[in-house]
Amino acid sequence: MKPLGSSVPLRLAFAVSFAFSFSLSTSSLHLPISLSKPKSRANSFSSLFSSSPSSSQSFASDLLSLLATPSDRKPNIPSDEVQQLFSRLKFLVPFTPDKSSYSRRVILEDSRRGGDEKEAGNEMVWWPPEPVMELARLAVDSGGDPAAIQRALDPTVLPVPDVDRINEDKCQLTRTPYGRRFASEEINSFFASLFELIVTRGPTVGLNLSLCRYDLFHGHMFVATDTGRLGILFHAREYPAYDKEDFPCPLGYCQSGSNVTYDESMNLRNILWLAPLPSNVTEAWLAPGVLVVLDAHPDGIIYQRLVPDYLDVVRTIYEGDFGQVVADVNYLNIENIASSKKIFIC
Ligand SMILES: *[C@@H]1O[C@H](CO)[C@@H](O)[C@H](O)[C@H]1NC(C)=O
Ligand SMILES: *[C@@H]1O[C@H](CO)[C@@H](O)[C@H](O)[C@H]1NC(C)=O
Ligand SMILES: *[C@@H]1O[C@H](CO)[C@@H](O)[C@H](O)[C@H]1NC(C)=O
Repeated sequence: MKPLGSSVPLRLAFAVSFAFSFSLSTSSLHLPISLSKPKSRANSFSSLFSSSPSSSQSFASDLLSLLATPSDRKPNIPSDEVQQLFSRLKFLVPFTPDKSSYSRRVILEDSRRGGDEKEAGNEMVWWPPEPVMELARLAVDSGGDPAAIQRALDPTVLPVPDVDRINEDKCQLTRTPYGRRFASEEINSFFASLFELIVTRGPTVGLNLSLCRYDLFHGHMFVATDTGRLGILFHAREYPAYDKEDFPCPLGYCQSGSNVTYDESMNLRNILWLAPLPSNVTEAWLAPGVLVVLDAHPDGIIYQRLVPDYLDVVRTIYEGDFGQVVADVNYLNIENIASSKKIFIC
């Protein structure tokens, strides 16, 4: 599988052309959310084509560094930024940045079996099953090489199934019409559980999601620029329904029949998973896993620093700001099959 840089223009080009045609006609539109942005923001679009880190990239890197800093240490980023950031992080699993919790891992193995569902969900994110831990370490040991992760995929090519009537609507939902899975069943099953956990925990932060073609069905896997940490940026609320007043944006075949409404929940559509962070020197683990909703409400720092101007209507944060993109992870909600079989890596 080749590095998926080539996928970027496709999705972005679409969003860009839509944002442009959109801004031409804004005078006639009524939008619930202001289109104007603070002037100080750098234009992230141009930065996609230059090699020096853009302001959104360095902010993303600050965010990742914050999410790897033990609670007894001061993060290496400006302190006003720390506060503003924390006020916009809605954790789906409690944030426990202390590696000491690693020693609890063995003890908690029991509770995982014992059936305390809440604790098991937390534990799954903090300290995933061994094959996922190995993948996380591989990402770092390879120096953040996407190809190292791609090599963990089974070579079998699987056609993307017709789910939620996508074929009837001529909707190509995934980046490619075929996908693959990780060779390790446990890894596929873990990623499926992550999707499911986001949906069960979402309501605790005001985010009601469905695992369907219009809403949560994909995330973008990346290896972080500075550390090689493995992560996924999920994009929920992908195809809001066209609405003359609130969302006058045609998004093509995949939008057809959408039951997602364009509302406040759009602010919460970017969800970040980070694998536990291994040391690149010893066998130790420096930080447990993280699952957090990035609140991109327009009055906050995440919107101001991370949402590119041309995607502000749909609040999309660009996965490439976090690191190198590995692949898209899709959860295609086919009925009556094991969760792990719903995963398609494209
Ligand atoms: C989410 O769904 C629940 C149950 O259907 C409902 O009570 C709640 O108001 C919804 N929350 C939002 C933010 O839509
Ligand atoms: C280990 O990681 C740190 C930052 O996470 C980096 O500065 C350092 O260069 C890395 N060392 C090696 C040997 O890769
Ligand atoms: C939207 O439709 C999907 C199936 O297409 C369904 O699973 C989901 O529950 C629906 N969501 C709402 C909010 O009605």
